[in-house]
Amino acid sequence: MKKDYSSLKIDRSEITPKSLYLSRRDFMRGAVLAGGAAALVACLPKESSTGTTASSVTPTEPANTYKDELGDSANSFYQITHYNNYYEFTTNPQGVAGLVDKFPTSPWEVQVYGLVNKPKTFTVADMISLFKPEERVYRLRCVEGWSLVIPWIGFPLSKLLYAVEPTSAAKFVRFETITDTLDMPGQNDRSFPWPYQEGLRMDEAMHDLTILATGLYGGGLPTQDGGPIRLVVPWKYGFKSAKALVKIELVDSQPATMWNTIAPNEYGFYSNVNPNVDHPRWSQATERRIGETDRRPTLMFNGYENQVADLYKGMDLKVNF
Ligand code: MTE
Repeated sequence: MKKDYSSLKIDRSEITPKSLYLSRRDFMRGAVLAGGAAALVACLPKESSTGTTASSVTPTEPANTYKDELGDSANSFYQITHYNNYYEFTTNPQGVAGLVDKFPTSPWEVQVYGLVNKPKTFTVADMISLFKPEERVYRLRCVEGWSLVIPWIGFPLSKLLYAVEPTSAAKFVRFETITDTLDMPGQNDRSFPWPYQEGLRMDEAMHDLTILATGLYGGGLPTQDGGPIRLVVPWKYGFKSAKALVKIELVDSQPATMWNTIAPNEYGFYSNVNPNVDHPRWSQATERRIGETDRRPTLMFNGYENQVADLYKGMDLKVNF
């Protein structure tokens, strides 16, 4: 893709000075603190949850008011917040909700930098006021074979990228999750190559379906779902959607990603949902929607084929999996 994004406009934003931001975060951590072996699998299968209630975020609308464009109802708020893949906390998906309460999600800054004309550090509040998040009901298909329908609140990542003016040298975007070994116990497991990193090609990042989510179910973004801000790329397997983002870097070559680094033969850079390309250890032809018993066929590009197939024209998706 040879697009030149350098002539695009930038919005002004108010930046919290780094020193003030850091000292506020340390203060919050101090306040809340007053109070194994790594499985090589990106997502574990969802089962019924016994996780404890952790989030102070409550849904403002019942599930059945939300449907995706295929007519599928959203999963319940409870299902979405009580079985989470978030290895920084624990590899047990039912354990995440019970571990997140002390994790400080405010203040929070995201540094956007690299091959851009106007590098900038944004607070989440800056981004919400500049980029006006809206509702997007998307399917999430985990590489392990379960799926959810989630009523996100988010804004297109492209709006943020336009604001920093990528140069024509920018070909990929690298995303990085926070490093916080005090508040995220799982990060002390050094068998993982922390921090969690993900990457997209520039045209994938600029696609209108790709959002940064700042909420779900009409409220804020629960910590266990990646609060205060996470990536959502609905035509790719769930692990591409990095949580708790602190860095977004525009780069000229394909970035390393956590799962591709751990097991390159199992988790490719592209990770597009594709029922025709099996994971080396299991089929990707079907999936189980959480809350249902029968499996349903997995759709090409998770059902977003009309919108995204063009991005991969001429590519062998068995090679670029
Ligand atoms: N982001 C971070 N930082 N750490 C993780 O362990 N897990 C990924 C992705 N983002 C993960 C992450 C995986 S494997 C999946 S399937 C989705 O988050 C799950 O999102 P959910 O918990 O909101 O359903």
